[in-house]
Amino acid sequence: MGGIIICHGGVGAKGRALDDMNSVASLSRDDDPLKTAVNAVVNMENDPRYNAGTGSVIRIDGSIQMDAAVAVPGEFGAVISIERVKNPVLVAQDVMQKTPHIALSGPGAVEFARRLGYGEYDPVTEKARVAYRKMIEAIKDSTNMDERYQAIKKLISDGIVEEPHDTVGAVAYINGKFAAAVSTGGASPMMPGRVGDVPLIGAGIYCGLKGAVVATGHGEEIAKKLLCYRIYERITEEPLNRILMEEIENMGEKLAGVIAISRKEYGFFSNGSMAVDTHEF
Ligand code: GLY
Repeated sequence: MGGIIICHGGVGAKGRALDDMNSVASLSRDDDPLKTAVNAVVNMENDPRYNAGTGSVIRIDGSIQMDAAVAVPGEFGAVISIERVKNPVLVAQDVMQKTPHIALSGPGAVEFARRLGYGEYDPVTEKARVAYRKMIEAIKDSTNMDERYQAIKKLISDGIVEEPHDTVGAVAYINGKFAAAVSTGGASPMMPGRVGDVPLIGAGIYCGLKGAVVATGHGEEIAKKLLCYRIYERITEEPLNRILMEEIENMGEKLAGVIAISRKEYGFFSNGSMAVDTHEF
């Protein structure tokens, strides 16, 4: 096998975002697995259909705060609640390659990005604005947080506000080396400062000498279960597809999906619709 790339556009995707990933896997191909995984995530961050980079959801305070991470065996880099940059995953890669740290958050992450030349960028889309306005309208009479969440849940179940398509991610195995990358605008509704699974090593992303795994879905539950590390640890114990199925079943009612790659197999599994694109060469 020369190489394999798997990309996902988030569990819970609908319509075009589910049917047509624009051949993102083959278009992102490079000789280096990290470059490949990052290229794939950049392509999806730049596509407004996905809840990552441009197209990210707006938090209840009106801000857009994004999380992203990259990993190769023995290395990890993440940005947490970064604002006003076009491609959070590129900043995460720079955290891994150019700092002694594994993660930068909030204003520190933004300041780091600006120092490296990342320009000011507003990732808001008209679709995100409309969804935000509907959310605010729905919660304006609610007197406490529970009521707010119930009102927003009803908007989603009535189809008035589309549930965000969640995280985008990619794993690659090329020339015997693994890499993983992931990015998200987060969940909705969401408080400012809320952190999901994406920038937490072992939760929404893991990469080691046995393989690479990324997750999408309910960030809190994915993090509590340390989903990607659990899957990684089981690689080679059983067929990969069985491991993915069992770990997703273990998520119960919470929406989740995973893509994974080992030296011998690759696979994906989810408990909701999930856009996936693969390219083998
Ligand atoms: N899975 C993305 C998030 O919950 O933030």
